[in-house]
Amino acid sequence: MKQYLLGIDLGTSGTKTVLFDDAGKAIAAHTAEYPLYQPKNGWAEQDPNDWWQAAVKTIQSVLQSSQIPAAAITGIGISGQMHGLVMLDENGQCLRNSIIWCDGRTADECREITEKVGAEKLIAITANPALTGFTAGKILWVRRHQPDIYQRCRHILLPKDYLRYKLTGVFATEVSDASGMNLLDVPNRCWSKEIMDILELDESMFAPVYESVDITGTVHAQAAELTGLTAGTPVVGGAGDNAAAAIGTGVVKAGRAFTTIGTSGVVFAHSDQVAIDPKGRVHSFCSAVPGKWTVMSCTLAAGLSLKWLRDTCCQQECAQAKSQELDPYILMNQLAQTSPIGANRLLFLPYLMGERSPILDPDARGAFIGLSAIHSKGDLIRAVMEGVAFSQKQCIEILTEMGVPTDSMMMCGGGARSELWRQLLTDIYDCPVKTSRASDEGPALGVAILAGVATGVFSSLEEACEKIVIADTEHLPDAGATAAYKPYYHLYTKLYPALKDSYQELAGM
Ligand code: XUL
Repeated sequence: MKQYLLGIDLGTSGTKTVLFDDAGKAIAAHTAEYPLYQPKNGWAEQDPNDWWQAAVKTIQSVLQSSQIPAAAITGIGISGQMHGLVMLDENGQCLRNSIIWCDGRTADECREITEKVGAEKLIAITANPALTGFTAGKILWVRRHQPDIYQRCRHILLPKDYLRYKLTGVFATEVSDASGMNLLDVPNRCWSKEIMDILELDESMFAPVYESVDITGTVHAQAAELTGLTAGTPVVGGAGDNAAAAIGTGVVKAGRAFTTIGTSGVVFAHSDQVAIDPKGRVHSFCSAVPGKWTVMSCTLAAGLSLKWLRDTCCQQECAQAKSQELDPYILMNQLAQTSPIGANRLLFLPYLMGERSPILDPDARGAFIGLSAIHSKGDLIRAVMEGVAFSQKQCIEILTEMGVPTDSMMMCGGGARSELWRQLLTDIYDCPVKTSRASDEGPALGVAILAGVATGVFSSLEEACEKIVIADTEHLPDAGATAAYKPYYHLYTKLYPALKDSYQELAGM
């Protein structure tokens, strides 16, 4: 019987479930969306129940549309947005909405962590400074502001590990995602008891940590009945969305890198050793490849900036797209194409949710600089796309400063669907940028490959990636365009330092 693998990717805008055959070909894919709640400026929450409902719905849909018998699925992998805090009571019930990765409310708690643990020790053990996006600060925030909820909390999980619990009944996590909590000993790939003790966090609330390729449990009867899956199907550790995308784009060897333009913007490179930026501008995490690590930057509003523009300014395009059964981004791309390099002298800072890489500032906010009555909607769209690409370029410069090579660059995420965005990223980076056949499915394919390795469908991650990850498009930098972007990029890098104090003042108002 032919073998199949299922990859579930719990993203910020929706959950995507993809069924792959044993050659890594997508047989069926379904996405279900859910809301992002922003109860205050700079806060971001989601309802874990929405995630679970979306997973159930999309699993049912791929099974129905593919007509593949569930029993032919050899293994399941789960990937997801990192850092989100899920708190469960003793009966496994959610105690509050999840505070997710792009929430910036924990500046005070991050200061507290740094003071109590000591900046040097924190970086030596967790490989990262205390960051507002990471989970530990969120736990301390709930303890301080919602003590009744904290007292009832018995289990702390990351978003995708909540899906694992709902599918298998097992509490478990794995190294790549746990790295983003400020609680994992990243060099030694285990919880840091020392940091938990200093922060007075009870270790029993945290699930056992596995490697990404380990089997952590099997689908239980109740989940099987709800989803249509077969009880007993193995579920592997899986990975945080970026570590999963690395597997799905073949970034499993030193020298390889990718850029994701999803809700967040990520530049990610594989590393055989733990490589740490002492200034904390990029993150060092465990890789989904056993015994390896990664260096990555994360900007908080990449695709989110374009989505914000779509939702606030492009109702007309959305309506037109609906009537023509098109993706509204296709029409927005067409408008952006009418604008020249530099968007008629308009720059955009993509700090709509504060920022993490390469500037660590939860109080930063977005800005259009140079706005004139001459500007059209096309200019605004192009400026957003260029601003997001400039912010990725700034992150690459930090990796280069650390000696981490990024010259073999793949691109994935929703932004990779846009030819214009791919080309302008290539021109701004001044290096070739490729996509793979599965660029859209990056994280889901990555965890399906992990499931395939765990269940013997593939003999190793490296072998599976060689076989499955096939380059699709390749863009080469255009020397004229690269030169034309340079002065805009240079100006872009001067804007945040010039605005920093104003952002601070605004946050205090
Ligand atoms: C990574 C990060 C985001 C989320 C959501 O540090 O915060 O990339 O994983 O995609």
